[in-house]
Amino acid sequence: MCGIVGYLGHREAYPIIVKGLKRLEYRGYDSAGIALYDGNDIKLSKTKGKVADLEVRVESEISTNGSLGIGHTRWATHGVPNDVNSHPHYSNSGELVIIHNGIIENYEALKKELTKRGYTFKSDTDTEVLINLIEDVKNKENVKLGKAVQIALNQVIGAYAIAVFDKNKPDEIVVARLGSPLAIGIGEDEFFIASDASPFIEFTNNAIYLEDEEMAIVRRHKGVKIRKIHDDSLVAPYVQELQLNLEEIEKGGYEHFMLKEIYEQPRAIMDTFRGRLLTDEAIIKMAGVEDNMKKFLNANRIIVVACGTSWHAGLVAEYIFEDLARIPVEVEYASEFRYRNPVITENDVLIAISQSGETADTLAAIKMAKSKGAFVFGVCNVVGSSIARETDAGAYTHAGPEIGVASTKAFTTQITVLTLMALRLARAKGTISSSDYRKYLFELESIPSKVEKALSSDNHVKMIANIYKNASNCLYLGRGFNFPVALEGALKLKEISYIHAEGYPAAEMKHGPIALIDEQMPVVVIATKKGHYEKVVSNIQEIKSRKGKIIGIVTEGDTSVKELADHVIEVPETIEALTPLLTTIPLQLLSYHIAVMLEKNVDQPRNLAKSVTVE
Ligand code: F6R
Repeated sequence: MCGIVGYLGHREAYPIIVKGLKRLEYRGYDSAGIALYDGNDIKLSKTKGKVADLEVRVESEISTNGSLGIGHTRWATHGVPNDVNSHPHYSNSGELVIIHNGIIENYEALKKELTKRGYTFKSDTDTEVLINLIEDVKNKENVKLGKAVQIALNQVIGAYAIAVFDKNKPDEIVVARLGSPLAIGIGEDEFFIASDASPFIEFTNNAIYLEDEEMAIVRRHKGVKIRKIHDDSLVAPYVQELQLNLEEIEKGGYEHFMLKEIYEQPRAIMDTFRGRLLTDEAIIKMAGVEDNMKKFLNANRIIVVACGTSWHAGLVAEYIFEDLARIPVEVEYASEFRYRNPVITENDVLIAISQSGETADTLAAIKMAKSKGAFVFGVCNVVGSSIARETDAGAYTHAGPEIGVASTKAFTTQITVLTLMALRLARAKGTISSSDYRKYLFELESIPSKVEKALSSDNHVKMIANIYKNASNCLYLGRGFNFPVALEGALKLKEISYIHAEGYPAAEMKHGPIALIDEQMPVVVIATKKGHYEKVVSNIQEIKSRKGKIIGIVTEGDTSVKELADHVIEVPETIEALTPLLTTIPLQLLSYHIAVMLEKNVDQPRNLAKSVTVE
């Protein structure tokens, strides 16, 4: 939800900020803007649209020299996406300028107060209220910018990552965070501000990640001073060395990040296994699980909280944990869980799944569960993210940066981590025999090459995509372990192609959705061998009798479904519980190709953002 970038140093700020904003467009892309200090004054340019539109606007509007600047790419919360609501925002005097990621919840009350004191507002945003509040405090209290920011933030309710500068003090940027991420890159006599490290990775791999309720004053030649916003105490900066490299965040010859990330899955799953799946020794090693084994083994139940695709991975986990480890599992949408009054006890284990590690609802669900004494375990991709830090223990998925807004490799690596956990716990509980355990371990090891094989159906899937690209609706059916995959397949199609799609448990079809089936309706059915195969074949018969068009996802060498279906896409055979790792692949490819054929923006679908840091 919005990307922010800032630069203070000895280089030209403009190219660094623009490039950085492009890398952060996954966070929001409905408008963009930049403010530069040119040695005299602030030059500001902003526009509805993408960073590429901003570049065009900048060319005709402002000069781009200056070594201090801030930039923003927006996902609108307050105020429609238009030029005026785009960030940065000036204060009324024109001396201060701000970029903001988050929401100021009490902005209306603050705006009323400021209006009474003579302030005027050009935009509908909460951010313009905040910068004027800072200006008001600065003038009223006669304090420096840093102090004014601190006092103002103590009056604010909401979430923020902000960067502010004052044209009269062009040697400093003030930044602060609560609930939205903010990293400070430390170079040689230069500093970078960003929502994540990707904008500055080619300049430095030293970074400070601000914690919630911290602010920093970043000074040219002087460095970074961090304080707690609420009690003013000084915090010693903790400089981390980043592992990220430039290739990981570039397209590497693929047309879209989504396609690159689909193809990265064999490697990503292998990285998830690394150091954990030790087949020769017949063990699974996961520090976060080992260290907290008692908590898991004594748990009354596991509650999984997540959103979107991560929630689908949670559903797969429910089947796997219950089947293998015999631990009761409930899977909850974080947004629902946090607002009802769930019964949580100290004997519950909560597993929070999140690619970004920043999803606001998941974070809030974690905080609630912790306050009630539950043990909270995180499954995150982004290292050092808020959820990774907030949880009691966890396991990273190690998928590498996922930039395409539609989640692909995050999903399969989440399932991989959760499967390893379920197996490890099953072994500890004795709910799996040692021979079955070994069988799973060997089979898991072959999954990356089987995913590779599943990817080889790409051209065939593309041909099928071409036939169905103009469909208005699509049904996805699956049973057991593959029911969540049906939900995920439908989500992938709707979010990037804007075709309406629904996922259903195959047997539920006759309780309603069957009424939709006619010769116009493509129905994707996951019908791999084992896993209620015969029952799914009967469901396929029912669809065929109503003239629906059937695309079957089948096990290599299948003949029964082939006779009934209009098309089949084969995936290699594996243990039933591991099939989601393979059946997902053709569904990702199908939605990808349809969206490309419909000329949709695959990596940045409308209205979406990669990291949902607002509730
Ligand atoms: C769909 C998608 C979203 C995310 C959801 C949760 O392709 O990407 O549904 O899965 O917003 O995000 P994380 O996993 O970052 O918490």
